[in-house]
Amino acid sequence: MSRLDIRCKVELPVSIITRGNGEKGGSETRARFTSLSLGGGFIDHTPPFDEKKILGLKYDLPKHGEFEVLGEVTRSERNGFAARFYDLNRDAKLKLWDYIRENVEEDLSCPYCGKDHAQKRRICDGCGWSLNIHSQDYIVTHEKESFLKRIQTKSDDFSIEDMYKILNFVDVQVLGIGKNLDINEEFVGSSQGILNVFSMIRKVAPTDIPVLITGESGTGKELTAMAIHERSQRKNKPFITINCAAIPDNLIEAELFGHEKGAFTGAHVSKTGKFQYADGGTIFLDEIGELSPQVQSKLLRFLEDKVVEKVGGHEGKKIDVRLIAATNKDLKSAIAKGTFRKDLFYRLDVFNINLPPVRERGEDKVILARYFLNKFSKEMGVAQSFTTEALDAVRSYDWPGNVREIINKVRRAVVMSKELAVAPADLGLTIPVMETETLTSLKDVRNTIEKQKLIEALRHCNNNISKVARVLGISRPSVYSLRKKYNV
Ligand SMILES: Nc1ncnc2c1ncn2[C@@H]1O[C@H](COP(=O)(O)OP(=O)(O)O)[C@@H](O)[C@H]1O
Ligand SMILES: [Mg+2]
Repeated sequence: MSRLDIRCKVELPVSIITRGNGEKGGSETRARFTSLSLGGGFIDHTPPFDEKKILGLKYDLPKHGEFEVLGEVTRSERNGFAARFYDLNRDAKLKLWDYIRENVEEDLSCPYCGKDHAQKRRICDGCGWSLNIHSQDYIVTHEKESFLKRIQTKSDDFSIEDMYKILNFVDVQVLGIGKNLDINEEFVGSSQGILNVFSMIRKVAPTDIPVLITGESGTGKELTAMAIHERSQRKNKPFITINCAAIPDNLIEAELFGHEKGAFTGAHVSKTGKFQYADGGTIFLDEIGELSPQVQSKLLRFLEDKVVEKVGGHEGKKIDVRLIAATNKDLKSAIAKGTFRKDLFYRLDVFNINLPPVRERGEDKVILARYFLNKFSKEMGVAQSFTTEALDAVRSYDWPGNVREIINKVRRAVVMSKELAVAPADLGLTIPVMETETLTSLKDVRNTIEKQKLIEALRHCNNNISKVARVLGISRPSVYSLRKKYNV
């Protein structure tokens, strides 16, 4: 039977994080992937882990940065084990695919079924999959092509109820039948700051203007860029991410704009740039503050006339790409220092979305932590919750790494925790201690909260007293007396 995913041989270091078991706590060990596909990989590690064990896997993909995913051991051998990936989102898949494509062995046999061909073929006459793996939209095409087969390989285990559930999921969640699909439900939060972000995404998505997304690392800049793309008319065209900080200065220009054969030492063949691959879609330039002055001016030229020119080339090519840029740097001070072009900044800053750090999102901290605890628990088939101390610790911690740190700490806690309730220590957090001078009487606390909730409810209900009473679950006279008490 043919494979559904191309596998490549690699030597890629990986950290394995294991969940505690009975008396034994969890641990982190170093190993390496010896093969990798979009579905999982083989890890050289002795002693091997038992089948079905769930592990946290952390690895660095050259050019793309660090990844942390959950994996399940599907096969155990003497020198290692095969693991299947969980929770790979589309973006992570595309990055992984970039890496696999670069590492796959180029010979004449089909990477899916192994059939030997006498010459290079576009379609395998053994299994029928297309083999044009260097075309940019290849992976999307292949996933579509193989989709029914993927379902089919699992369908023997479906009950008739499962099938109804799946069809219903396709109708409601995928096609939006009978449901008012709003902002992607994966984008979690209800603080005022994040609601403003949602509203800006909705406003700017259908237009073609460039967007500059600012905010600390891990606040959701890339997620915002994807959300804009997915709500635009370009959504069925490529969304291409380039992390300007991850690619060396001397390579980035060729990576973005392509190069001609012989343009520089080592340029044996001509190469298409990411801008051209993104034609019709969106290009997301992450960490734009890291671009060299030379690439900055080339980018400015692109924004002015929408033409890209390969390195070493002589004629430009007109391209229809929407640019979204992001940075965690203060570009204004980079301009003052002379490291960032002012004219480029004003071209990019036409529409700015600033993502507030998590520490300024109030109760969103807890909402996010709960969301990811739920998600990872479900994926691992355990029912985990937070202890009250853990929730206090989540609230009082500053989360300098923002949402990414929440994800990593919660994922690790789900893997490492020995109990069903996640404690502060599982999250690597300490129990917040109340300082004596900040201790207030319960009555004060109650009054403060009561007043706060009253103000919020009045605002939410446009001062409609009946509605406020309903929302707060009290009578109308009580609403009046509370207003009087707090003078609001
Ligand atoms: N509000 C949110 N709700 C759910 N997941 C989020 C949210 N914000 C960020 N994430 C997730 O956190 C991780 C880091 O976000 P990312 O967009 O890569 O941040 P940045 O680009 O600002 O460093 C990603 O896995 C992203 O999906
Ligand atoms: Mg980022």
